[in-house]
Amino acid sequence: MVFALTGVSLHLLVHGETKPPTQDIRQMSEKTFYVTTPIYYVNDVPHIGHAYTTVAADALARYKRQRGFRVLFLTGTDEHGQKVEKAAEAAGLAPEAFASSVMVRFRELWERLNISNDDFLRTTEARHKKAATAFWEQVAETGDIYLGEYEDWYCTPCENFLTENQLDEKGRCPDCSRPVERLREESFFFRLSAYGEKVLAHIEQNPGFLGPEGKRREVLAFLREGLRDLSISRTTFSWGVPVPGSEEHVMYVWFEALINYLTAAGYPDQMEEKGFWPASVHIIGKDILRFHAVFWPAFLLSAGLALPKKVFAHGWWTVDGVKMSKSLGNIVDPLKIIDEYGVDAFRYFLLREVRFGHDGDFSIPALKARINSDLANDLGNLLSRTLAMVVKYRGGLVPAPVAEAERDDFEVKTRLRLMGLRETFESKMEALNFYDALFELWSIISEFNGYVERTAPWKEKDEDVLSNILYTLCEGMRIIALYTYPFMPESALKIWAALGMDSSPENADFETAAEWGGLRAGLKVERIAPLFPRVE
Ligand code: ME8
Repeated sequence: MVFALTGVSLHLLVHGETKPPTQDIRQMSEKTFYVTTPIYYVNDVPHIGHAYTTVAADALARYKRQRGFRVLFLTGTDEHGQKVEKAAEAAGLAPEAFASSVMVRFRELWERLNISNDDFLRTTEARHKKAATAFWEQVAETGDIYLGEYEDWYCTPCENFLTENQLDEKGRCPDCSRPVERLREESFFFRLSAYGEKVLAHIEQNPGFLGPEGKRREVLAFLREGLRDLSISRTTFSWGVPVPGSEEHVMYVWFEALINYLTAAGYPDQMEEKGFWPASVHIIGKDILRFHAVFWPAFLLSAGLALPKKVFAHGWWTVDGVKMSKSLGNIVDPLKIIDEYGVDAFRYFLLREVRFGHDGDFSIPALKARINSDLANDLGNLLSRTLAMVVKYRGGLVPAPVAEAERDDFEVKTRLRLMGLRETFESKMEALNFYDALFELWSIISEFNGYVERTAPWKEKDEDVLSNILYTLCEGMRIIALYTYPFMPESALKIWAALGMDSSPENADFETAAEWGGLRAGLKVERIAPLFPRVE
């Protein structure tokens, strides 16, 4: 048996305390993990796209926590800028009140989606204004900020500055195809042109910094064209963080927003104490790649701060083959999907339907197909058969395996398969390849279902053989739930409870829990309502 002691359990053994002071955990635990989602604009209510990024980050955060990491999982709302100011105006509200009213919609959704974020940052909070101001000053001190005049185009929906030749053939925004505005105003500039080569070198020298590969190549090509300096302040509206010393300017919303990742890590004065910077991974959508893979590293280099270890851009969801848009009225409301199909089915679908990093299409038939095949037929069925047979043949008590009894080949191989799963599953998760991690797990679930069909326990006459089959099924279910947990936490907890486990897949010591044989004989198993009822 592998005997692994984490920093915390070692502390418990040595001191015999029930709850070690946090300070000690911090010092003893070297494994930290900091994952972020974009902070979402509050000009609009959350939809499936926001849910996607956040569920992916949640799966990763839960996976890391399970493996003993001290995790900081950050999400939040981007509340400043012209776009939010305009939306507030249209709603007849002051920006503060408007932002608060939409912000709660995000918070509510994360609760319903079982998102385990450790922090929720609003850019209107004092801690963020303090960090943004300090960061500006730090960059200004290096001489990388100068005053000039901006004269060109601006796309408010994208909050993006554009040159004439970046516009599309109709003179609109190349990214969102909406009309752009002509700006001419005094502005502070960031010397972005001085950082192109450095960012390029960083991306080239650190293949793991930017993913997926196609996006990495796109950014490299963009960088090779050279960068022009970036306007980082505005004077024609006021909904933002004032530029220190020049209060008639507010910071450009992207300059300010990116700093949120530092704010939550304790910038400017608590970074070291918190121990989370540099971030392990910024998960973003492909729409905001340049801001994260070009501007953000340049700002950080200027400020002399470490760059995040990874930026990963996922693809874009369409709905029934078309782009989601308000005018088409095809925006998918995650709350409706959860109400109708359940939170875990939705979480599973998002990460299993499409390879992370690729574009995908959402449709109700596709969701139903996944639910019926992978969840109801494969996982749900395996669980209900297992529970029903233990109740029927063993009075609901997990039988002890019988070493001398004849064994199906599968029982011997399962151990090895599950040990092998650990390695493949983890390597996929580390690469943010949720799609293949789930594929691997589901191929084992299929093998278990095949094993039930082949051994047909309902016909088995030898009681010892039957005990072995039932034990194998229960133990298999326990370990499958352990791996399912980051994706479908609620269902995994239910499976463990149905098996009579008094711990949970959330805080079991993973090293021990992943070993075959952890399930004790004699535990009281209970039949439960189908986890994933079939949908028609
Ligand atoms: O860009 N498919 O906020 P935002 C997949 N505030 N993901 C989608 C999506 C879709 N159809 N639509 C949106 C901002 N997303 C800035 C971020 S970070 C310092 C500032 C997701 O509200 C995806 O993650 O426009 C995308 O990057 C994000 O929502 C954009 O959210």
